[in-house]
Amino acid sequence: MAMMSAPSLGFLLSVIVGGVLVLLFFADYFRRRRIEVQSILKAELEKPSANQRPSKSRPSANTKKLRPHSQADKDQNKQHHHLDVNTLKGHGDLVTALSFSSDGRNLATACADEVVRVFKLDDVSSKNFKFWRINLPAGKQPTTVAVTEGASSVVVAAQALQGSSLYMYREPTAKPSTDGKQTKLSPPEIMWEHHKVHDMRNVLTLVAARASYGTADGSTIVASCSEGTDIKLWHVTSGKNLGTVDTNQLKNHMAAISPNGRFLAAAAFTADVKVWEIVYSKDGSAKEVAKAMQLKGHKSAVTCLCFTSNSEKIITASKDGTMRIWNINVRYHLDEDPKTLKVFPIPLHDAKGTVLHYDHLSLSPDGKILAATNGSTLQWLCAETGKVLDTADKEHEGGITGIAWAPQTIPMGSEHVTILATSGDKKVKLWLAPDLHSSEDA
Ligand SMILES: *[C@@H]1O[C@H](CO)[C@@H](O)[C@H](O)[C@H]1NC(C)=O
Repeated sequence: MAMMSAPSLGFLLSVIVGGVLVLLFFADYFRRRRIEVQSILKAELEKPSANQRPSKSRPSANTKKLRPHSQADKDQNKQHHHLDVNTLKGHGDLVTALSFSSDGRNLATACADEVVRVFKLDDVSSKNFKFWRINLPAGKQPTTVAVTEGASSVVVAAQALQGSSLYMYREPTAKPSTDGKQTKLSPPEIMWEHHKVHDMRNVLTLVAARASYGTADGSTIVASCSEGTDIKLWHVTSGKNLGTVDTNQLKNHMAAISPNGRFLAAAAFTADVKVWEIVYSKDGSAKEVAKAMQLKGHKSAVTCLCFTSNSEKIITASKDGTMRIWNINVRYHLDEDPKTLKVFPIPLHDAKGTVLHYDHLSLSPDGKILAATNGSTLQWLCAETGKVLDTADKEHEGGITGIAWAPQTIPMGSEHVTILATSGDKKVKLWLAPDLHSSEDA
């Protein structure tokens, strides 16, 4: 490490004891650190000089050099990943899914402790995030969640022995208590609920979009993708079922709605991907969900996919070892087929050189960086070239359960940053975007 040689233990201790007040003045520096004061202090001891601050510019290769690996991380035999900015703790069990609000300021998590938490991300580097808490009805375990209607409500899928239920909760409006630390609110109310939405089957993914295409009236719709082959669409404010589609394929893995609410696409462990169009009537309501296109080209099962923010392209990852970018902005009514614009090899291999397949995919809001996972490995790829920009391995024990980019930048101290969130084990991690010109082999 290009740091300093270790100072004597006595010196370190005196820095801890005497330095606390001094350190408080380095608020900027603090905001950039991980949350716990203790680890911040430990990290501080390894820094050559307390007033060397991280650069103010957007995160870049530069920042890398200024982030020392903390002693705490070394104690765990692990280096602090330079893109890791914060961790949301306090979950009592495995975090199974996460979802951002459209402004990026609210992050909902589904946790096996039967609680959904909606964190307020007013500052990414905060040490103490406020959240509102939803205790699910007894015996219901939230499996996935979607923040809807801006940020004021969430739809939760919860599983029980008799099948999955959907609940819509609105954010409680009661004023926060004034005692500072943790906001206490009245319990959130259930606005609507549906039970056995997919018979006995569980809901694998929930995804929300604001319908803005064509005559759509701007209401938020949610798709629940079951572990079978069916996918259902829901109108968020009314709870009305807008339609059901069947992939007629092997078994769903995930579904996505285009950001403008026009298309629904599913990865269902077959090579071809089905895409439906949600057709809106003149009064703005969703009329039907109609078969639209098939993406044909992969030679093996497509494991996950995502739309680009302009809703004109789909990116797919397949077990055939490749990723494809498709142009779906075609006149499919006139039988024009979606075109493959690019094919990339998946750049992730195990020790024997076998290509690993991605189980989650998420595209940054500017469309430039793809985040992808296999188990507990997280990769950032350049969406233009497919080149690996960075990799983080084993940051979540037992695999990553969900990934999402904040749809908009979020404040971090005095700047605004693009953030990726990942869930797994009992936490959510927040990551800065890698520099587009960085490269693993550089
Ligand atoms: C990672 O890739 C390997 C090889 O394709 C696959 O067997 C495994 O299921 C993948 N892991 C996950 C969690 O999808």
